[in-house]
Amino acid sequence: MRITVIGSGYVGLVAGACFAEIGHDVVLVDNDPLKFAALSRGECPIHEEHLPELLAKHRGKRLTFSDNLKQAAAGAEAVVMAVGTPPNKNGEADLSYVESVAREISSCMDSYKVVIGKSTVPVYTSDWVRRIMLLNGVPEGMADVASNPEFLREGTAVADFLYPDRIVVGANTERASDVLHRMYLPLIDGSYYATADRFVISDLQRRPMQFISTTTKSAELIKYASNAFLAMKISFINAVATICDAVGADIDQVREGIGSDERIGRRFLNPGIGYGGSCFPKDLSAYHAVARECGYDFRLLEEVMDINTQQRHRFLRKVRSALWTIRGKRLAVLGLAFKGGTDDIRESPAISIIESLLGEGASIRVYDPAATARSRNVLVSDRIEFVSSPYEATEDADALLILTDWAEFKQLDYKTIHKSLRYPIIIDGRNLLSCAAMSELGYYYTSMGRPDVSPQSSRQELQVSSVLSTMMPVAVGAVAESAA
Ligand code: UGA
Repeated sequence: MRITVIGSGYVGLVAGACFAEIGHDVVLVDNDPLKFAALSRGECPIHEEHLPELLAKHRGKRLTFSDNLKQAAAGAEAVVMAVGTPPNKNGEADLSYVESVAREISSCMDSYKVVIGKSTVPVYTSDWVRRIMLLNGVPEGMADVASNPEFLREGTAVADFLYPDRIVVGANTERASDVLHRMYLPLIDGSYYATADRFVISDLQRRPMQFISTTTKSAELIKYASNAFLAMKISFINAVATICDAVGADIDQVREGIGSDERIGRRFLNPGIGYGGSCFPKDLSAYHAVARECGYDFRLLEEVMDINTQQRHRFLRKVRSALWTIRGKRLAVLGLAFKGGTDDIRESPAISIIESLLGEGASIRVYDPAATARSRNVLVSDRIEFVSSPYEATEDADALLILTDWAEFKQLDYKTIHKSLRYPIIIDGRNLLSCAAMSELGYYYTSMGRPDVSPQSSRQELQVSSVLSTMMPVAVGAVAESAA
């Protein structure tokens, strides 16, 4: 099938490359001259595992780039809209890009096309796109508008696309539904997995997958509701971790206990410094705004967002509790990205925590495997230094803070780090490391919802303030982390 994808952001780029991978002819359109030029030169503008290989495999063959929508859409059966829907000042999704693309497509109708929304959008967006197209002279029956929400996660987007657990398509006519079914057919019938030159991702096998066909409104709602539910799971476990801190229980044990109930499940129950990224924060406020407009006060979502903000403050209180005062302290930080596996720092809790610490007078040396370049323009201070190795960050630091869950941070040589730190203190906002291992290595280790440990501590519930009173005279009297 000939597919036009509009927008070469994260969703458009991954979807375009993956549609080419499963056998379609794809033209990826972007009117941003810089992006278009970079893609044409063979660059991959985002850090996303497997994407550079996939682009290299199909570029100039089944995947081409264009800055001209009319040419790109000629003869296409499917036109996928993957343009941005940034939040406006009320938290609502700004749909002006979607509207202007809808208008532009209207002048490109050389044959029947299904215009497919892949951006995360409020209910009724498909109806609006259809209306805009009719108003701009597209004859009834010449086009259908459909919704095909994306469930990709940054860092694993290619794997998520090629090995999905479900594909949701919202279409109001059989003809449109049929086009969408054919777009995904190689994944639905499994024929893609039998091809000799398929893109192999180790450890991933074809798994049972559901093709869910709905109306456009239901599909639009499925996307918002999925993200809201996942964010709710994270805030829920973060709230439980706060109680664990207060009573001295261990969130890992609690997680195991509740997550092993199949109805609840283990995934997305990792406590930490809260969710970030370009999706959850934006989608929750947009969903909240959509509900308000429909006359429903979705207060549960407000609470989810509030708990999420509180997590950053809780972490900062833990830092103060471990170090007493912040001004003049030299802190090693691991992580800038909103999660491991990406260079994306949008709404990253790591960035906001670093900003607070700089504001309180700390000096920071930070390492991130991918997000440094993007952070330089955001974190501007003469007290921050971006370094190129984790070991450089920890040299002579008063403590080490872990803010992003990069897998490689688990594998570091914490024996060497112990020697290079001025004080062997780790405050782990992602629960990446094992309390027992850190204690054995001689650390004072604080994490989220797990008892603090001290070097080979037999008293697992040691308070960091009392730890420090024996270690650093300066910390005597430090205020213990309050559970509030
Ligand atoms: C999220 C959804 O997971 C995708 O299904 C969806 O397609 C995507 O948004 C989107 O709407 O485009 P993404 O934002 O890439 O994907 O990242 P997640 O893996 O969901 O993580 C979001 C945030 O939650 C990160 O900051 C992560 O560190 C945090 N998180 C995640 C936790 O704090 N605990 C967890 O257990 C899981």
